[in-house]
Amino acid sequence: MPLVTMRQLLDEAAAGAYGVAAFNVNNMEQIQGIMDAAQETQSPVIVQASRGARSYAGDRFLYHLMLAAAETYPDIPVALHQDHGNSPETCISAIELGFTSVMMDGSLAEDAKTPLDFEANVAVTKQVVDYAHERGVTVEGELGTLGGIEDGVGSGEVHLTDPAQAEEFVERTGVDALAVAIGTSHGAYKFSREPDGDVLDMEIIEDIHRRLPDTHIVMHGSSSVPAELVERVRAAGGEVDAGFGVPISAIQRGIEHGVRKVNIDTDGRLAMTAAMRELFRDKPGDWDPRGPGKAARAGQKLICMQRMQELGMAGHAGDYEPMSLQDMAARYAAGVRTAV
Ligand code: G3H
Ligand code: 13P
Ligand code: ZN
Repeated sequence: MPLVTMRQLLDEAAAGAYGVAAFNVNNMEQIQGIMDAAQETQSPVIVQASRGARSYAGDRFLYHLMLAAAETYPDIPVALHQDHGNSPETCISAIELGFTSVMMDGSLAEDAKTPLDFEANVAVTKQVVDYAHERGVTVEGELGTLGGIEDGVGSGEVHLTDPAQAEEFVERTGVDALAVAIGTSHGAYKFSREPDGDVLDMEIIEDIHRRLPDTHIVMHGSSSVPAELVERVRAAGGEVDAGFGVPISAIQRGIEHGVRKVNIDTDGRLAMTAAMRELFRDKPGDWDPRGPGKAARAGQKLICMQRMQELGMAGHAGDYEPMSLQDMAARYAAGVRTAV
């Protein structure tokens, strides 16, 4: 199947009332694990690359690995997404590379640390929307900032999204999807206790969805950080500073109220690391690097299958034919924002 735009993928998810996981990818085993899971559960999927992933693997390598995934699994709709673009240049380079969707994260300045003010966020996001929509490419924006700092990304301060401002932001920028800050953060340490409404504000999502029913809401920092995976990493000699993650029930509640894209990176990292550490611990004589590679791939596959079932995306791969970027560009030019 040719690559699909994230707009189409999320519009279809809205029509079917399910959520789509966006899994971060960095290498071949991770991409294969995700795609094996999508194949087995017949799920449409978003594979996303951060700037860190692009510099780790190299643009051409990463893009062709993602393309190989789309070719190898022709029944699975796949959107290629730039995660946390820090500038129009990053987003434009992803579009030139062949990504079908980009995130312009104008909640932070180009250093990916300093919170950016509302007007500057609108300006930088609108610039990317104009460029991307002319080419049929989907755009995700972000309003509000997540907590935590992951690999130097993030301000470390939480600024929850203001629903009234979200309405103005979407009207002025024309983004297809909006990442919101509701108290989550990136990484394995999100909450010091099982989160309740005091630290995870699901009502923000409900309010934004009432105001913006056609804008797809994105939950970042949505790993659930299973205690079992953390324990496995530790039991195999690893150290993880982990707290409580986002409960699956909260993600499911979000999906009932307009959340369509659910970003999951940490759970996959934990699953791969646990599998590799166990292999090194239990089979010291297995010095062929394909051993840990296979174990990591199987670990990623298992956690992805679980999330695909939980988000309701399983079984929806065959629901629709992909729309081309040109057709999507024509719709945007005609003032139509949706693919369905
Ligand atoms: O934005 C956060 C994602 O988990 C990506 O992390 O920048 O270390 O690749 P990364
Ligand atoms: P986690 O760290 O919770 O997996 O979040 C990933 C994310 O939001 C990527 O943009
Ligand atoms: Zn994120």
